[in-house]
Amino acid sequence: MRTQVAIIGAGPAGLMLGKLLEMSGIDTVILERKSANYVLGRIRAGVLEQGAMDLLDAAGVGARMYAEGLIHTGIDLSFDGEVHRIDFGDRKVMVYGQTEVTRDLMEARKAETIYEAEDVALHDCDGGRPRVSYRHAGETHEIECDFIAGCDGFHGVSRASMPASDLRTYERVYPFGWLGVLVDRPPVADELIYAHHERGFALCSMRSKSRSRYYVQVPMTEKVEDWSDERFWDELRARLNPDTAAALKTGPSIEKSIAPLRSFVAEPLRHGRLFLAGDAAHIVPPTGAKGLNLAMHDVRALAEAFMAFYRKGSSAGIDGYADRALKRIWLAERFSWWMTSLLHTFPETGAFGRRIQRAEFDYLRTSEVAQRSFAENYCGLPD
Ligand code: APR
Ligand code: PHB
Repeated sequence: MRTQVAIIGAGPAGLMLGKLLEMSGIDTVILERKSANYVLGRIRAGVLEQGAMDLLDAAGVGARMYAEGLIHTGIDLSFDGEVHRIDFGDRKVMVYGQTEVTRDLMEARKAETIYEAEDVALHDCDGGRPRVSYRHAGETHEIECDFIAGCDGFHGVSRASMPASDLRTYERVYPFGWLGVLVDRPPVADELIYAHHERGFALCSMRSKSRSRYYVQVPMTEKVEDWSDERFWDELRARLNPDTAAALKTGPSIEKSIAPLRSFVAEPLRHGRLFLAGDAAHIVPPTGAKGLNLAMHDVRALAEAFMAFYRKGSSAGIDGYADRALKRIWLAERFSWWMTSLLHTFPETGAFGRRIQRAEFDYLRTSEVAQRSFAENYCGLPD
């Protein structure tokens, strides 16, 4: 088989890249290790910046997001039970689950996606004719292509195929995770609540007006089996303002899992004709919900680079992709790290560190400039 761009991974990055290229008449094949249902079963964040909304719209897959998504114009920050709303001013975000974004992109795709592709391996990425081999239904296949887009997430094969000597990686692993619960009950508030508490961070989020998503910070040594629904709700309530805790509508969890927190960047996102985008290239902790938004920014830049190559014969976009994407990646890394540092309890924080966190909260509470800066970062920096 032959294609122009072989895309590894059918998460939001791979699917959006495929859609943008399809709209420009560029051939793609997507190879995905899991089944479509498995991909759709993963629960992840769902706060879209304006740039991500615009991209979904431009890709012709924005209709359901605009019909069913919830526009938010602020968030609540809670510090030891004291709540302050941060108004986004003239900015906004769209609360629309990543699962729904993925479903819309899957449904809109006309070109081939090979699900349950095993043993995907990349060959000759630094030559003129890269190839991708894989096994499907017991048979081995090979795809010849011009370029390979590695959109296969943090544990994928693409980054692992780059020579270690060409990669520079930057990483911070946080000493805790987020225990998340999905529940078919209306959200406790109209907007998201990010709560700092001496017992640890908590987040009240939502998927719709009838489905909520809640998180509490836990040590990575915790086991999800040890967290009954009751224990989770008690811990969440203990970290919220008393009025909010009293208003919480609890119910049986429909999903419960613990996710680690990590900051990670692999530079320079390129090896010959192989390019990395999305979680394959970088991870942000979920505080601030930048992961999906960054992935969307990466693939827009990569799609534009491929379009310039095929339409105008220009390699400038391809050569500039890593620099363009990395500028935004590092700004999002900074904001996610900062928001994580402000809101979580760290084993090493100590009394001084807690007072600094309190001062940071007070600055945000009282300074219009700090609030504008927060809103700019949370809702999406200009391109
Ligand atoms: N071969 C083929 N597919 C693979 C392989 C492989 N060896 N390894 C991983 N994959 C697939 C995964 O099964 C997954 O469906 O690549 C896909 C990567 O998708 P995501 O992990 O969703 O990553 P990405 O598309 O970059 O989306 C970024 O996801 O993790 C969140 O916070 C992150 O919201 C952000 C978004
Ligand atoms: C979520 O709804 O899952 C969510 C929302 C905001 C975040 C992280 C996760 O910052």
